[in-house]
Amino acid sequence: MAIILTLTILSIAYSQKKTAICDIEQYFEFDQNENILDHTTINQTDIMLTNSNIYLLDENLLVLNSIKTPGSQDYECNRVTTHPLHLIFFLACQSQQQGGNPILYAYKANGLNKYELFGDAIYLPSIKEKFDKMTIVGNSLLIPLSDKILTFTTVISSTSWYLKTTSYTMDAQFLNVPTLNITSFDIYSYVKDVQTNFRILISDFENGVYWIEAILKSNNIVPYNSGKINVKNFYFLNSAKFRSVVILNATDSSTLFVLQTYGDGSFMFENSFTSSQIYFYSTLNKYKDWNPISSIRNNQNAILIPYQNYQKVVVINLFNIRSLKENELMVEPNDLLISASIDDLILYFISGNRLVFRSDVDALTRCTLMNYQEE
Ligand SMILES: *[C@@H]1O[C@H](CO)[C@@H](O)[C@H](O)[C@H]1NC(C)=O
Ligand SMILES: *[C@@H]1O[C@H](CO)[C@@H](O)[C@H](O)[C@H]1NC(C)=O
Ligand SMILES: *[C@@H]1O[C@H](CO)[C@@H](O)[C@H](O)[C@H]1NC(C)=O
Repeated sequence: MAIILTLTILSIAYSQKKTAICDIEQYFEFDQNENILDHTTINQTDIMLTNSNIYLLDENLLVLNSIKTPGSQDYECNRVTTHPLHLIFFLACQSQQQGGNPILYAYKANGLNKYELFGDAIYLPSIKEKFDKMTIVGNSLLIPLSDKILTFTTVISSTSWYLKTTSYTMDAQFLNVPTLNITSFDIYSYVKDVQTNFRILISDFENGVYWIEAILKSNNIVPYNSGKINVKNFYFLNSAKFRSVVILNATDSSTLFVLQTYGDGSFMFENSFTSSQIYFYSTLNKYKDWNPISSIRNNQNAILIPYQNYQKVVVINLFNIRSLKENELMVEPNDLLISASIDDLILYFISGNRLVFRSDVDALTRCTLMNYQEE
């Protein structure tokens, strides 16, 4: 009884810290069955993608403009990503049929808060499965599939664009392992000897984490080295299955990362490349027995890990890196953000300590994180 009482008091104490202050909840006039699916930022403007529209939002979450997505039966346009070197974003529409190829559309800026379809739609015959993420680094488009990360080169002229396949596929052969079952990947740039380098981490369902080193050559990503991080050496990860990995920091000699498991919590590690050692920091507890959903985000000292229950309610656990101590086995979140019942979450930062998350089927909420800033 005493233990239960203490736990109750503790959990009240947590919710009273209130270091996440939410000031705007914006409802949108959606069509029936309109569902928020993805987000990107272009020219400092946020883009919210739904299954029927692309909305441009200002920092108060007001709609500046909207564009209907190309409708087509059997296809769902569900991913957007911005080209870092052009005022262009790409929309991926994925076949709802097994084995169908995705289609990519490009939208190009044409005046203040105006974007228009640009060039031709492009089929990607080399992709026969649905993907969750696409990202552009330099001129390279990276798309992770279950057994490889494909890289394409985006070639953009003033009137058209196309994709060139490259020989830089990050697969089992490149990693020198028998099989791969990729559940997520993350990429982080750091500067070494005035050159920009990239560290890529891949989470594998069974085997944990692989690392890849890459550089840019004429703005194309070129992976040149790889290896395995032996997270399975930790007894508590022996039988774990790995869902995602996110890089918090990387230098030439080390990587700080969070590894999420399916059944248990998430684990913060630092891998040293000079000593080939891995150090365990903390276990970031999951929310009750809820299931992980969407992906982990981080910004400055905040780590955000979303969970969902069977009623589809989402709770986002917020951890403050500054409050973590080394070798902590069970860390409870510093804050919680709670949504209504939703299918897909979007969650993004609009500045160092301001974030936006989907708080209802047709609503976004903006919050400010206090005390998470860098010292
Ligand atoms: C991008 O931002 C600049 C500067 O604010 C602005 O002049 C330009 O119109 C913007 N472009 C679009 C497409 O919004
Ligand atoms: C591969 O990973 C998925 C999760 O992304 C999992 O459901 C599936 O069982 C895994 N396949 C194998 C053969 O382990
Ligand atoms: C990353 O780590 C380096 C070396 O420890 C440190 O100097 C730097 O401030 C860190 N960067 C971030 C964003 O935490």
